[in-house]
Amino acid sequence: MSIEQLESIAQAMVAPGKGIIAIDESNTTIKKRFDGVGIECTEDTRRAYREMLLTTPNLSDHIAGAILYDETLRQSTRAGVPFTKVMLDNGILPGIKVDKGPHPLAGFPGELVTEGLDGLRERLQEYARLGAKFAKWRAVITIGDDMPSSTCIEANCHALARYAALCQESGIVPMVEPEVLMDGSHDLEVCYDVTEVTLRSLFASLYEQNVMLEGTILKASMVVSGKDCPEQASVDEVAEATIRCLKASVPASLPGIVFLSGGQSDEAATAHLNAMNQMGPHPWPLSFSYGRAMQSAALKLWSKDMDKHFGDAQKTVAQRARENGLAALGQWKKSA
Ligand code: 13P
Repeated sequence: MSIEQLESIAQAMVAPGKGIIAIDESNTTIKKRFDGVGIECTEDTRRAYREMLLTTPNLSDHIAGAILYDETLRQSTRAGVPFTKVMLDNGILPGIKVDKGPHPLAGFPGELVTEGLDGLRERLQEYARLGAKFAKWRAVITIGDDMPSSTCIEANCHALARYAALCQESGIVPMVEPEVLMDGSHDLEVCYDVTEVTLRSLFASLYEQNVMLEGTILKASMVVSGKDCPEQASVDEVAEATIRCLKASVPASLPGIVFLSGGQSDEAATAHLNAMNQMGPHPWPLSFSYGRAMQSAALKLWSKDMDKHFGDAQKTVAQRARENGLAALGQWKKSA
């Protein structure tokens, strides 16, 4: 695949007013979400839940792509139509989570490094055959006493760059996600510093590994106050700090940046994105790739009665997509 083809997929992922829905929870993570609302976690409940999300009417009005987990990429609707076909027929790009999760970084207690490079070339080739157009790899950076170490940042960024180069070799757009966690009592400035140093390291690694930025999407965490910080930054402060940080560390040739929600409330995730776009224009489109902030209302409703609330749960997905799509244009209003 040529760089032009990768570039056009990357641009489609951040088309104006559109974003990504992340439904790539591993079986362990989705079990935690299901446990929270009292649903048994089986292959079929996972399939039924993802069918509800992916068959939301008019989802593609504001959703350009969906990130799936390995199991979901191979599943079908109850009527037997593969999810990838449902998506491609509706103009939604199939994406796939390919990392094997964060594991303890030896020698650095409390820090994590994401694994999954072994055998990745073959896995990506299979995913491309199954219809995946883009892939995601999430690195986790934890803020704490003497953390993150430069070793943790460099190890994670090196892995992200190796993964991104392998994706492009297979004709798949890499979505590189270095998530700086919100956990902790640090303030906004600390989050700013950690995010900037992480992004600078990431783009240095991508350059070293010959990754073509024109065919890459960044999935970033916003610059926010730690969850337990007594002084929480306002929406405008978060938006201003995030934009400043991105401009200081992300090359303008990148086709787009999408954000994770990371445990923010639905409304905060939308308000922050909207405020950033109202401060534009910026060098890149800024959109969303939310998991929890797209799904939490739908999951709660669906869990009460999977059949009876199927349509209502889909309405909340459509509503969250619409609100976040407006925020991607800086046109969201609180009561929208
Ligand atoms: P959240 O929006 O729930 O943080 O999930 C996004 C994601 O894909 C994290 O990797």
